[in-house]
Amino acid sequence: DLSLPKAERIKLDEIDPIKVKLGNGSDVKGTRVRVFGRVHRERRQKEVMFITLRDGYGFMQVIFTGPLAKTYDALTLTRETSMEILGELREVPPGAHAPNNRELHADYFKIYPGWKAAGGDEAITNRVSKDTEHATLLDLRHLTLRGETLSKVMIVRDAIEFAFNFVYKELRMRKVSPPALVQTQVEGGATLFKLPYYNEEAYLTQSSQLYLETCLPSMGDVYCIEKSFRAEKSLTRRHLAEYSHVEAELDFITFDDLLDHLELVMCRVLEVTMADPTVKQYIMDLNPEFKMPDRPFRRMKYSEAIEWLVEHNIPNEDGEPHKFGDDISEAAERKMTDIINRPIFLTHFPVEIKAFYMQKDKEDPRVTESVDCLMPGVGEIVGGSMRMDDYDELMAAFRREDIDPTAYYWYTDQRKYGSSPHGGYGLGFERFLAWLCKQHTIRDCCLYPRYFGRCKP
Ligand code: 4AD
Repeated sequence: DLSLPKAERIKLDEIDPIKVKLGNGSDVKGTRVRVFGRVHRERRQKEVMFITLRDGYGFMQVIFTGPLAKTYDALTLTRETSMEILGELREVPPGAHAPNNRELHADYFKIYPGWKAAGGDEAITNRVSKDTEHATLLDLRHLTLRGETLSKVMIVRDAIEFAFNFVYKELRMRKVSPPALVQTQVEGGATLFKLPYYNEEAYLTQSSQLYLETCLPSMGDVYCIEKSFRAEKSLTRRHLAEYSHVEAELDFITFDDLLDHLELVMCRVLEVTMADPTVKQYIMDLNPEFKMPDRPFRRMKYSEAIEWLVEHNIPNEDGEPHKFGDDISEAAERKMTDIINRPIFLTHFPVEIKAFYMQKDKEDPRVTESVDCLMPGVGEIVGGSMRMDDYDELMAAFRREDIDPTAYYWYTDQRKYGSSPHGGYGLGFERFLAWLCKQHTIRDCCLYPRYFGRCKP
């Protein structure tokens, strides 16, 4: 009971010390605590044993001295063993280092039956080490997730997801949950996962966009954070078969409104995420050079990007100078982003290389009101656009792409019953995380990655 006077509190703590998570608790001399966690690391120095305990909330250095260090359980302690430890938290002596600058001087510990981690050949250090093959590490993902890097990335991931929800609430946007099993495509037939659905055929959704659009008339601006699925057949460091997709749709807006909103959301999400000191520390551990992106983001039209690529001798996929109409390859896009080295809104892509639903630019109907947001190190992390809002034009777009509009009746109906200028975007959550946490591949930005050739564990 924290309302008790301090002297009373300490007396109580001696009988039943407060149970704390490893990231919490005071280091005021004399504070007794009871902690639970797993052995992350352990080492002996003469008569003293140092244990780094981990519980998902933080790390704590624990010190066993005297008879405690000589007990059977202490002498045979294996990494990952779960323990209960009681003791006194103290500031580390000058010159010494420990997480949160403090250490737990243990006077009691207990390893309950079943809590001991395997040792010998089965010891975790023999199964997962620096020399373990990459594929084996992926098979052992449930164990590698306990490592410092992956666990920090996953904790940052949680914070970012919270921040998106928080920021969308600040913007008075409503969250919806569209279906994953669908019978329409959004981003091209080549990456559709097909599956039998009772007596019909269905797909795993590539994007919730079309469904979000149907929510505008009843709910106003909406967003979702759902899984999207793409049967990508190439192995790249930024393509998954199943990824988390942050998607939003905004009603009665202009293309400029869409870009301003996107910049605001991304920067505000970073601010909210960084406001948590633990998360901020983890981000700085993973990406020491991170600094908040400068606003406004650089805005660059596709046609300017083509000129830039020609000027910088970065060839297209055929090894020739880029020309208007070319798809900018992943490699070229990344080179450009890394050289410019700040977030870029690449806009106004040609109609032919973009999705059927994108609104054309009134001033230049060769191009669409579309945007990709590119980040140094990763490349494209967001794709968005204004949506075609005219019924006839949309039907013509279906014909142009050779898509049968019948299955899309619920989508095209939106243009029959109160159409509106609207637009939205999808942000690849793992790509955003890879950029923020400086991870080489987005595979390390989700728990159990799914991609060509891997669907386990
Ligand atoms: O550019 P995409 O394909 O756009 C859409 O799906 C739109 N319908 C979204 C919308 O407007 N609501 O995908 C959007 C983003 C990409 O910028 C990328 O970050 C991510 O989704 N993405 C992937 N992330 C991981 N693995 C993949 N295979 C991805 N494909 C796209």
